[in-house]
Amino acid sequence: MGVSPVVSMHSEPPWWCTQRVTGGFEGVFASDPEGLRRTTEGANEMGNERTVKNLKTTYTGESKAIVRNRLFAEIADSEGYPQIGRLFRAVAEAECVHAKNALVMLGEMKGTEENLRFAFESEMRAKNTHYPEFIREAEAEEDRKASQMFSRARDVEERHGQLYRSALDSLMKEELMVYHVCEVCGYVAENTVPDTCPICMATRDHFKKVV
Ligand SMILES: [Fe+2]
Ligand SMILES: [Fe+2]
Repeated sequence: MGVSPVVSMHSEPPWWCTQRVTGGFEGVFASDPEGLRRTTEGANEMGNERTVKNLKTTYTGESKAIVRNRLFAEIADSEGYPQIGRLFRAVAEAECVHAKNALVMLGEMKGTEENLRFAFESEMRAKNTHYPEFIREAEAEEDRKASQMFSRARDVEERHGQLYRSALDSLMKEELMVYHVCEVCGYVAENTVPDTCPICMATRDHFKKVV
């Protein structure tokens, strides 16, 4: 079964969040030593509940804008507006700065080992709780396209979880993997691109190398 992306992909990789997080991370804490206390638990103590809520809203809203702008850029490129595509990508990068600043100020960033555990658990929650519920509801409403998309996403989350799990087990290994992401369903392949995606059957030209 051949599968095509929703819109044609532009020539440059739309990698909107390539900056290392550490620069902003250290910078924010240097100028805001109270940053670590801006958690939900610390909010009562600081009396800044509304600010914490606003930081969360900022993180969510800016993160959504990043994805939306990336897609707008692909649409602009596919419609023959390369300059508009660049504009959407540039602003997506800028929104990424806002989203990262809000997340860092919330004090929820930890070291890599804890981040891997957090990422693993959130994939498992998506696979075991969220997507099964979404699939049930889509089927109840006879929305087969949405049900299929949720099913694929659920299956891919399991793969993401496996990758995080094995990264946790081999944290100190120095071998660097090359990852290839299926741009149709989000499956992640290590080192070798499969002939077809094991989840959505997309052909190998739908995989994007990510280093
Ligand atoms: Fe995932
Ligand atoms: Fe796929």
